[in-house]
Amino acid sequence: MQGRRILLVIGGGIAAYKSLDLIRRLRQRNASVRCILTAGAQHFVTPLAAGALSGQRAHTDLFDGEDEADIGHIKLARDADAIVVAPATANLMSKMASGAADDLASTVLLATALPILIAPAMNVRMWQHPATQRNLATLRDDGIHVVGPNDGAMAEAEFGPGRMAEPIEIADAAAKLLSDVPHAEVPERSVGLQARTQGAASFEARLRLAPQDEEGGSPLKGLRVLVTSGPTHEPIDPVRYIANRSSGRQGHAIAAAAAAAGAEVTLVSGPVALPDPAGVRTVRVETAREMLAAVEAALPADIAIFAAAVADWRTANEAGQKLKKGGNVPPPLQLALNPDILATIAHRTDGRPPLVVGFAAETENVVEHARQKLARKRCDLIVANDVSPATGVMGGEQNTVHLVTADTVETWPTMDKGEVARKLVARLGELAKAQANS
Ligand code: CTP
Repeated sequence: MQGRRILLVIGGGIAAYKSLDLIRRLRQRNASVRCILTAGAQHFVTPLAAGALSGQRAHTDLFDGEDEADIGHIKLARDADAIVVAPATANLMSKMASGAADDLASTVLLATALPILIAPAMNVRMWQHPATQRNLATLRDDGIHVVGPNDGAMAEAEFGPGRMAEPIEIADAAAKLLSDVPHAEVPERSVGLQARTQGAASFEARLRLAPQDEEGGSPLKGLRVLVTSGPTHEPIDPVRYIANRSSGRQGHAIAAAAAAAGAEVTLVSGPVALPDPAGVRTVRVETAREMLAAVEAALPADIAIFAAAVADWRTANEAGQKLKKGGNVPPPLQLALNPDILATIAHRTDGRPPLVVGFAAETENVVEHARQKLARKRCDLIVANDVSPATGVMGGEQNTVHLVTADTVETWPTMDKGEVARKLVARLGELAKAQANS
C-alpha cells in the first residue's frame, strides 16, 4: 500500500476503539491515513488520538471554518485513493444508502467518487433487522465493498454476527481494493461517478480495467490459487454431526492474502462463522467428500494450499432419521475413513498443481511428524503447527508455525494468523517464481 491515501471515516460505535489500531496497521503498510470522526465516534475515541496516530489532523465538523479553509469537504471527498468506513454503524449505513448528507462524514461519502469499503459493526439484532439488510443490499448494488461483520461475543453480552471485522482483516480488504485501483490522477474521478451510478457490475468492471500496482505488490499475479479451510462436519443423523475445533481463520486469511497478492483464488471452505473473504471465489461445503469434489472441480491450479482440518472419519451408517435413545444403551457409532484430500491431489499424475502445500496439526513431535506427513502425502511443503490445547492455536488468533520441506525446517515467531498468511503467500510467490525459472 506504498504511498496510497486512505480516508478513514470512524462511525459512532464501541468498535471505534479498534479503528485506532486500524490506523496503525494501515500506516505500517505505508499507506497515509486521514480521519473523519462522526459526532457519535467522538464518544468513543477522540480526534486527538486519531490525529496523533494518523499524523494528520482529524476532521469532525462540516461547518468548521478552520476545516473548510484547511481542506474543504469536497476536497476531502477527492484527495484519497479509497475511503474506509470503520465502524460502519447501522445509522451510517442507512444514511449512505439513502443519500443523506447532514454531517461531514455523510456529506463526504455522498460527494465522493472514490471506491468505498465499509466494515459494519452493530448489535446482532440491528444487523439482522430487515432495514439494515435492505441498506446493505443497496450499498452493495451501489458498488460499495463490505468486510465483515464477524460472529462473536458483543458488548451487550450477546453472540452472533455484528462484530466489526478485525483491523487486520479490514487492512487486508483495503489493500485488496487498492490493488485494483489505479494510483491517483488516472481519470478515476470522472469515470468513477458515472460508474457508481451504473451499479456494481460496471464499477467492478472499471476496477478490473485499472492498471495493476506495479510496485512488486502482486507476487502471485496471474496465478490460480486453491485453498481449503475450516473443519468438515460429518453427519451422524439429521441433527448431529462429528466436527473439530477449527475456525477457518488461518485458511481464510491465506485465501485473502493470496487474493491481495494478485492471485485468482478459489476457497473451498467447510462450515465456519467467518464471512467470505473479499475478492475470493468461495465454495462452501459440509463434508470431506463434498470438499474433495469441490477441490477437484476447482482444478487446475498453480498452487494448492490445504489448510482445512478435514475430519478423518465419517459415520459409516448415517441415520436417515434422528437417533432415539430408546433405552440405556448408546447407539453403535461405526466410522469409515474419509478420503485424504491433500494426498489425493498431490498423488495425481495428471493435473497435479505444481506447488502443493499441506498443513500438519500436531500435539507432539511437531517437526518429525510433519516430515513423515510430507513424504506420505507427497506434498512440496508442510506448514506445521502445534495444536495442543495449551497453545490456543485451534480457534485462536495466533499461530506458531514451522515450514518443513524434505530437507529444511524454518521456525517462524508467533504471529497472528493474518501475518502468517501474508508471509506464507510471499514465500509461495518466491517458490512459484523459482519453479517457473527452473
Ligand atoms: N487433510 C486432507 N484430507 C484429510 C485429512 C487431512 O486434505 N482427510 C490435509 C489437511 O488439510 C492438512 C494435512 O492433510 O493439510 C494434514 O492434516 P492433519 O490433520 O495434520 O493430518 P492427518 O492426515 O489427519 O494425520 P493425523 O491425524 O494422523 O495426524
